[in-house]
Amino acid sequence: MKRMRIALAKGRLAEKSVNLFIEAGYQLPDDIFTSRKLIFQAVDDELELILVKAADVPCYVEYGAADMGIVGKDTLLEAGRSLYEVLDLNFGRCKFALAGPPGREESPGYQRIATKYPNFAREYFNEKGQPIEIIQLTGSIELAPLTGLAELILDIVESGRTLRENGLVIYQEICSLSARLVVNRVSMKTRRREINEVIGRLRDRVERGGFLC
Ligand code: PRP
Repeated sequence: MKRMRIALAKGRLAEKSVNLFIEAGYQLPDDIFTSRKLIFQAVDDELELILVKAADVPCYVEYGAADMGIVGKDTLLEAGRSLYEVLDLNFGRCKFALAGPPGREESPGYQRIATKYPNFAREYFNEKGQPIEIIQLTGSIELAPLTGLAELILDIVESGRTLRENGLVIYQEICSLSARLVVNRVSMKTRRREINEVIGRLRDRVERGGFLC
């Protein structure tokens, strides 16, 4: 039987995702945090972890190249892929928010929104019936209103420190976000027993609380 493959998002969620597996009793290679390898096999379980860019996790899981994945709800909302979201892992907590320079909250003049989440932003403003122009960036979003590239930003806010240190304020909180466990639709049927075992072990660890928050 093929090993269960689980795609983890590199970056801000990686360490907690790996630690979740370790604390759920999976024995992983010691070099997982130091190696440049991208595939890591568990020692006693028929399971392997792959590390991919956060934005690619939904793609790996939808196409079945990975049976399961751990990724932020922000990435899932943006990707709009067809997969099962089975567990809120209760870490990587942050929120989507609109932000910009202070004192401009009520100004109807803003029209250009800088974001790493163009699909989500388009849908959000379409629902409001508000015409806007989306400027898609890949990082350092807070620079956009400071340089005149856009009037405001739609981005994730975790501690709020990046906004604060760049003199920006939240105009509106949109929704809460956190890391989620996702499952490929076919694997859910064909590997149900193994999938349920992983979900159960991770859920038990998450429900015990502690380091994950
Ligand atoms: C994210 C996000 C904000 C920041 C928010 O960027 O785009 O810039 O984190 O976190 P805070 O509220 O705790 O300050 P990230 O660190 O992923 O880097 P990026 O700018 O390269 O996208």
